[in-house]
Amino acid sequence: MCDIKKICVINQKGGVGKTTTAVSLAAGLSRKGMKVLLIDMDPQGSVASSLTSSKEKNLYHFLMGECSFIDCLTPLGTNLDLVHSTESLTKAEVLLAGQKDGQKILAKKLSDIGDYDYIIIDCAPSLGVLNQNAMLFADEAIIPVATNYLAYTGLKFMIDAITEINRYFKHNLKISHIVPTMHDVRNKSNNKILKKLISEYGVKITSPIRINSKLAEAPETGKSIFSYDAKSRGAEDYGKLVKTVLGDQEEVKNINKISQAIPISARVQRLMEGKIEFYD
Ligand SMILES: Nc1ncnc2c1ncn2[C@@H]1O[C@H](COP(=O)(O)OP(=O)(O)OP(=O)(O)O)[C@@H](O)[C@H]1O
Ligand SMILES: [Mg+2]
Repeated sequence: MCDIKKICVINQKGGVGKTTTAVSLAAGLSRKGMKVLLIDMDPQGSVASSLTSSKEKNLYHFLMGECSFIDCLTPLGTNLDLVHSTESLTKAEVLLAGQKDGQKILAKKLSDIGDYDYIIIDCAPSLGVLNQNAMLFADEAIIPVATNYLAYTGLKFMIDAITEINRYFKHNLKISHIVPTMHDVRNKSNNKILKKLISEYGVKITSPIRINSKLAEAPETGKSIFSYDAKSRGAEDYGKLVKTVLGDQEEVKNINKISQAIPISARVQRLMEGKIEFYD
C-alpha cells in the first residue's frame, strides 16, 4: 500500500477544472504504463459522464458496505479502473457526517487495496465529509485553480482547509501541485493572476492548462483528451502535467526555471508540506 501514490484533486471552488484534471491525469498516467484507479467522489457523477461506467453499483454502495470493491469497479482499459458515483452519494454525505470516524471510512475501506501505482480522486466543490474522506485517504493534493481573480482568492481558503484537516486529524496531506487552469494567454488579467500564483507559490505551480474547446468537447464522446484529440493544446498541456507528476526531470527543470527568480517563502513551503500550523 505504501508504494501507491494517493492523490486527491481538490478545490472547494466549483468549475475550476477538477474533473477535467483528474480524468486527464488518470488517462495520461495509465498511457505511460502506470496502473491507475480513478475514484469519483462527486455526487454530480461527472467522471462517469466523461468516461463510461458499466457497473450498477457505485461508490455509495461501497462506502455503505453494500458491495465489494470489485462490484463497483469498471475496467476502462489495461491500466485504468474507475469507481464511479451518482447522486446517491449525497446520502452518504449525510450518513457519514453522523457516524463516528465518518471522515475516515474511505481510508479504512481501501486500506488493503493493492496493485495500483496511482489512485486519483476527483472531489466535489465542497469541504464536506466526503471531501474530508478524500483528504484523509490521500497523501498528496493537486489543486486546480482557474487563472481568474475569484479562483485565486479562493485558493487561500483551500490551503487553510488542508492545514486545518492536517492539524485536527494529525494527518500529513501535502500539496504537491497547484495547476493553473482555463488559462487564456491573451487575457491580461489571466496573465497577472498566473504571475501572482508563481510569485506566491513558486515551484508548486505547474505549467498552465490553456483554455481549449477540445477539453470541453471530449467528455461528450466518453474519451479522454488524449484519445479525443491527441494534437490539441489540451492534450499537450495535460501531457506536460502527467510528466510533472511522474517527476520528469526536464519538465521539473522548466518549472524551476520559471520560478527561480521568486524563491518560495519558508513559511509557504512548510505550509504546503502540512508541517505548519496555519495561524502560527
Ligand atoms: N482548459 C479548459 N478549456 C476549456 N474548457 C475547460 C477547460 N477545463 C475545463 N473545461 C470545461 O469547463 C467546465 C468545468 O470544468 P470541470 O468540470 O473540470 O470543473 P470542476 O472543477 O470539476 O467543476 P465542479 O466544481 O462542478 O466539479 C467543463 O465543462 C469542462 O469541460
Ligand atoms: Mg467536477
